[in-house]
Amino acid sequence: MTPVISSAMTGSDLLRELLPVCEREVNRHMTMTRDWNPHDYVPWDDGRNFAALGGVDWDPEQSTLSETAKAAMITNLLTEDNLPSYHRVIAENFSLDDAWGFWVGRWTAEEMRHSIVMRDYLVVTRGVDPVALEAARMQHMTGGFDPLPDDDGQRDHSFDMLYAVAYVSFQELATRVSHRNTGKACGDPIADRMLQRVAADENLHMLFYRNVVAGALDLVPDETMAAIYTIVSNFQMPGASMPNFRRNAVLIAKGGIYDLPQHLSDVVLPVLRKWRIFSRDDFGPLGQMYRERLAEFLEQMDVKVTRFEESRQRALERARRRGELPV
Ligand SMILES: [Fe+2]
Ligand SMILES: [Fe+2]
Repeated sequence: MTPVISSAMTGSDLLRELLPVCEREVNRHMTMTRDWNPHDYVPWDDGRNFAALGGVDWDPEQSTLSETAKAAMITNLLTEDNLPSYHRVIAENFSLDDAWGFWVGRWTAEEMRHSIVMRDYLVVTRGVDPVALEAARMQHMTGGFDPLPDDDGQRDHSFDMLYAVAYVSFQELATRVSHRNTGKACGDPIADRMLQRVAADENLHMLFYRNVVAGALDLVPDETMAAIYTIVSNFQMPGASMPNFRRNAVLIAKGGIYDLPQHLSDVVLPVLRKWRIFSRDDFGPLGQMYRERLAEFLEQMDVKVTRFEESRQRALERARRRGELPV
């Protein structure tokens, strides 16, 4: 049974107490970020009209992307498309006043650049079927996505803000890794440059959220630890509710774009290290209990990572024996 956390602090107290951290992080973000224009990253000369305007509709032959690159591009773009879902979660859990409100608007506007540039690139270069892409976007956005796990009726929802910032700390870093590797998988320097640009934004977003969580850990360590444990142990990439997600996720993992070993070593562990989760001495009994649960969860994940790597190695060897890969 999950113990109930009781704290004298309410959710709005927490936002007020964390406001100086938010202000500092907004200032840091605004000095580090740089504005860029999506149109500068798209090879417009490669474009031509579709049949509705007298041209030719999409044909699979027109795409130069591998199946892995297509799956990764579609998954990453649909993730960016679903911005309204994430905006809702952030806007509902942050205040829309002062620095919190500024961040909600600024972050949303930056995120929208990502879907603009990726869609323009894919449609102009005919990398994927634009009709299927639009149908998938409609389905995915209509369904929405809630990153916060269902609770067992015991979570104090006044602290949902902690769950939201813990989730995005990991998710922004996960999208950074995924965009970087997708850029390489496309085999096109223009796509690589575009996705490096997007990944650089994701890194700054991750820093904002990760530093807000660090501030929350200092302020309400036990409540924050509960949120971190819950998010890490229930983590799902936003793609989980997308059309063809299973097929695309297998291609993405097999292609080394985003897989369990990377999730553990490049996303989960570095963020936990920055928060000094396993060296802090300010947890009460509840925080310590959630930290122990987290340690157990990470051990189980480590076992799964080993199994994943072994099975990928076996699959590679089979492919080599069949002559599908160089020895
Ligand atoms: Fe993004
Ligand atoms: Fe982002």
